[in-house]
Amino acid sequence: MNTASRQASWPPRSASGLIGAEIAGYRVERELGRGGMAVVYCAKDLRLGRTVALKLLAPEYTRNEAFRSRFAQESRVAAAIDHPNIVPVFEAGEADGILYIAMCFVSGLDLRALIDREGRLTVPAALRIAAQLASALDAAHARDLVHRDVKPGNVLVAKGIDSDHPEHVYLTDFGLAKKSLSLTGFTSAGEFVGTLDYVAPERITGRPVDGRSDLYSLACVVHETLVGVPPFHREDHLELLWAHQCDQPPALSEGRPDIPAEADEVMFRALAKVPDDRYDTCMEFVSALRTAVGEVGPRGRTPTLVDMRVGADCADPGAEAEAEAARVVVPEPPAWAVPVLRGPA
Ligand SMILES: Nc1ncnc2c1ncn2[C@@H]1O[C@H](COP(=O)(O)OP(=O)(O)OP(=O)(O)O)[C@@H](O)[C@H]1O
Ligand SMILES: [Mg+2]
Repeated sequence: MNTASRQASWPPRSASGLIGAEIAGYRVERELGRGGMAVVYCAKDLRLGRTVALKLLAPEYTRNEAFRSRFAQESRVAAAIDHPNIVPVFEAGEADGILYIAMCFVSGLDLRALIDREGRLTVPAALRIAAQLASALDAAHARDLVHRDVKPGNVLVAKGIDSDHPEHVYLTDFGLAKKSLSLTGFTSAGEFVGTLDYVAPERITGRPVDGRSDLYSLACVVHETLVGVPPFHREDHLELLWAHQCDQPPALSEGRPDIPAEADEVMFRALAKVPDDRYDTCMEFVSALRTAVGEVGPRGRTPTLVDMRVGADCADPGAEAEAEAARVVVPEPPAWAVPVLRGPA
């Protein structure tokens, strides 16, 4: 069946062909975003009537048996972690050969979009985000679950509960790291997916990976939130891999002179090439950073993310409607997603 006849039997109800489709009991409403391996939709759970984020994984992953079994196992583990900073997973399964995950819909921005829009964050905001991520990661590590893909795109930032907690951070995508791909992140079609900006040296060399690999990635993210760019930023992928393994990271205080030089040592330790030389836990790292920076607590802060973009996008209904309208203008679904479209019986 060619694409045209598939679409004819599946009349799209909007410019985006998947909108209105029912997949595994979820009705797709709009696209939220896409990465190298999946498209994430806002969808309605037709059984419970609630809104969810529905992630559909590209068949490249579905076909890979190792990925499938790890996906199933780690989705189960991730779903079992009840932590305020980990996106709750409701269900993971397969429909028409497409792996899907239904998870809590988070209204806000991902950290990638936030940094792209705002540049570097205020020190208190960066530290608050770091602490929430550290807490989530330590909880996962305590259950022997390593995230493997800690990066700004996997951090969702929502409006917090009050002025002491202006933003609430969720870590997402446990168990979805592209382990099945080659080291450089190229698919069999030669297309580059993902980023190597946050990858720990031991992942590059194929040495054992544990929670301290996530700690390294977290430190890269923290550096980026404070400076605006990750510690190792190279145009060339091989140079980047080399830098993670061999180059001394830049001092944090060079990129951010308002941060005391004591923080440099903390970052150097978190970004150590050898896991044994790093902190044992993510919270230990963030606590050391807070101390070095002279942070006493959540009060006494400069303008927050809520004051800035998250608040503007999510706090008042008018802005939210505007943000929603902007999100509806999305590209066509990728070709691989078309087969999961089902017409009315
Ligand atoms: N639970 C969620 N609630 C709301 N939006 C979400 C949710 N999960 C993901 N998104 C949005 O969908 C986007 C795409 O997610 P996806 O995981 O596919 O891509 P990515 O993490 O940027 O890249 P990669 O393919 O390397 O994982 C996210 O960046 C985020 O903006
Ligand atoms: Mg992701």
